[in-house]
Amino acid sequence: MNNFRFFNPTEIIFGKDTQSVAGAETKKYGAKALLHYGGGSIKRSGLYGQIVDSLRESKVDFAELGGVEPNPRLSLVNEGVDLCRKEGIDFILAVGGGSVIDSAKAIAMGVPYDGDVWDFFIGRASQGNALPIGVVLTIPAAGSESSNGCVITDWENKNKLHFDFDKLRPRFAIMNPELTFTLPPYQTACGALDIMAHVMERYFTQTRNVELTDRLCEATLKTIIQNTPVVLRQPDNYDTRAEIMWAGTIANNDLLSTGRVGDWASHMIEHALSATNDVAHGAGLAIIFPAWMKHVYRQDLHRFTQFAVRVWNVEQRFDSPEQTALEGIDRLKSFSKSIGLPTSLKEIGITEKGFDNIVKKYKRSGDGTVGNFVKLTDEDINQILEIAK
Ligand code: NZQ
Ligand code: ZN
Repeated sequence: MNNFRFFNPTEIIFGKDTQSVAGAETKKYGAKALLHYGGGSIKRSGLYGQIVDSLRESKVDFAELGGVEPNPRLSLVNEGVDLCRKEGIDFILAVGGGSVIDSAKAIAMGVPYDGDVWDFFIGRASQGNALPIGVVLTIPAAGSESSNGCVITDWENKNKLHFDFDKLRPRFAIMNPELTFTLPPYQTACGALDIMAHVMERYFTQTRNVELTDRLCEATLKTIIQNTPVVLRQPDNYDTRAEIMWAGTIANNDLLSTGRVGDWASHMIEHALSATNDVAHGAGLAIIFPAWMKHVYRQDLHRFTQFAVRVWNVEQRFDSPEQTALEGIDRLKSFSKSIGLPTSLKEIGITEKGFDNIVKKYKRSGDGTVGNFVKLTDEDINQILEIAK
């Protein structure tokens, strides 16, 4: 196990009716808030009205900015920065999913920064300040409610890039599983795959002797595998929604990364896929992750057989560990299919012609490669896309 520091100050306020404290929580951190939200689901569900009432009851002054799209856009972030400066905003309340939260995080960084907020994403700025933010979560998926990550798309230049910064971790995350009852099946499934991907990025490591976090990862994966089909049949099953919601936070709050180095190549490839084709993040991962696995599994057959046996209950074939490992990868793919997600690029209309764009756009490390489990080059990415086609 590697040395580590674990820092996660986000206060989780979990359970029924917890959105009623949004105003009181906001009041603790800011004099004037920006209420930030997406394309309308919170208005249709009535949550918007509840949040506004809660802010008013707590006498919180606020301005609002809606319209965040999935794969949140840099253009709206810039609009938000201007609005916050003009209105003297000192706190952002994000009500929605990963896209709304990430848009809020980028605005929060942009307000005190004397330059273009995109500088952070392209590596031109690395340190800064950020307004505090709070979250009312409506979809378990990205884990942005307590992560230090922020992913924004410059749609004009087809670039989707991330920036990680501890000051971006929200002060609080209000998480009421009832708020996720209205999620359409496809969004529920995309969320489930993203949660699993956050765990698998950490699980596939070259760090040795990480038994506790291996087991925590396996438990989190099994929780999603067990509960997602149930919630697709029974969208208003509170306990099942609750399991998935809490798993979504645990998957990406860095507890599961303690003492180990994660991979993250699949996420980087998926971000390039989303930026060039506007795919839902979880759907992109359902396609890319098994292809990545097939490309790299021989590098550590033991870890892949462990994944197959412990997570997917594959019977260990001592005569052929390779078959055991491949069966685990196939079960992941079948699971994605069974919950209604695509598992090939063809299904989302991407052919070989589109591969070049994806290869051009993925974010590389300083040495030009991507990933840690195996350091991948452009040639590898092309092969992974071939497997995924
Ligand atoms: O915009 P509205 O109308 O609210 O609709 C949203 C949106 O269309 C809808 N939705 C959300 N809650 C709902 C609901 N519909 C009905 N009932 C509800 N309760 O769902 C759609 C998707 O929302 P979005 O916020 O885009 O989903 P998600 O949470 O999956 O976020 C995806 C974004 O997060 C990034 C992804 O790359 C992607 O841009 N990620 C952020 C991370 C982070 N900051 O740590 C890590 C992740 O790996 C990920 O990359
Ligand atoms: Zn993700």
